Amino acid sequence: MFKLADRVSRIDASGIRRIFDLARSMKDPINLSIGQPDFAVPDPVKDAAVAAIRDNRNSYTPTQGIAELNEQLRAEEERFTGRSYAADELLITSGVSGGLFLALLALIDEGCEVVIPDPYFVMYKHLVALFGGVPVYLDTYDDGFGIDPHKLEALLTDKTRLVLLNSPCNPTGRILDKATLEGIAAVCRKRGVPVLSDEIYRSFAYEPMTPMAAVYEHTVTLGGHSKAFGMTGWRLGFASGPRELIQAMAKVQQYSFVCAPSIAQYAALACPQVDMSAHIDAYRAKRDLMAGILSQRFELGAPDGAFYLYVKAPDGFTGDTFVEHAIKNNILIIPGSVFSERDSHFRICYTVADDILRTGAERLCDLADLAD
Ligand SMILES: Cc1ncc(COP(=O)(O)O)c(C=O)c1O
Repeated sequence: MFKLADRVSRIDASGIRRIFDLARSMKDPINLSIGQPDFAVPDPVKDAAVAAIRDNRNSYTPTQGIAELNEQLRAEEERFTGRSYAADELLITSGVSGGLFLALLALIDEGCEVVIPDPYFVMYKHLVALFGGVPVYLDTYDDGFGIDPHKLEALLTDKTRLVLLNSPCNPTGRILDKATLEGIAAVCRKRGVPVLSDEIYRSFAYEPMTPMAAVYEHTVTLGGHSKAFGMTGWRLGFASGPRELIQAMAKVQQYSFVCAPSIAQYAALACPQVDMSAHIDAYRAKRDLMAGILSQRFELGAPDGAFYLYVKAPDGFTGDTFVEHAIKNNILIIPGSVFSERDSHFRICYTVADDILRTGAERLCDLADLAD
């Protein structure tokens, strides 16, 4: 009989698995659970992928990624952040997940603390725990899902290795404003703590947004193509930031992922040719449609970006019990307890057709009314 490594028992996939087990019994559900765009990869990007395969671009690439894409992504980062990046300060990764994996492996020792604002993207706490770190949660519910730099400062200790930010946020949609980012930068600078800024939803910002790297020199930015271009299965992203850390991540990538998928890297060279603004406008309109209906009956977070609404369960319900109630009524949503140490909310993803959204939102309102 074999024995599994202890680290596997530190992580747990039961919360989300339970929901998908329940979902299996549903027939044609109104599915507001899927955290990915509903548009196809744009044709020029598909064509570039096909051409890459036919042109035999199927081998390993350099660990750092292909030079042309490195140059393209650096130029975009420089435009967006106002900071300049050398070629060895940007690493092409296997999605933002790959970047998270490498950054956390490169930064965390056993027992080190990582501050994670709560609610959070589900992967963060599990990866931190897998690598022997200790997640320290900064509860943001009383701050409208923003961050109070004083509360952050109170959580920093000699063991803090990293602060992990996500703006626009999954699940709340909240964008952290520039003054908040400057406050966070001041607190982290005093302690010499880096920030890992997950900006995967950057292109879905319905309000102006400031990137963390624009205000803080010790920022590693993670970005990617999954959501922006509907390429979730292609596994492409990047990390940019201080050379020493990016090079440590490259060293880990060399002995793990080896490189990001070659075909996706060549295909991504076509991304700047495509205009995604119609999709962004459509999602902004879906946000408005859903917020308009749901806010009549529910308390919502600040949906400034991404494609989620984080909604408070009605009185008499926890997030979990309301989701079970919704599932019995054929609406699939995700309980907030998957994204939080609290169990008071649920998450809606609005990347589906408007008629489904309208029906789903109206039914959720009816369920809340019946609960009264
Ligand atoms: C906040 C956040 N970060 C990272 C990821 C993972 O992205 P990728 O497909 O680039 O690995 C997701 C996916 O849902 C996400 O919501």
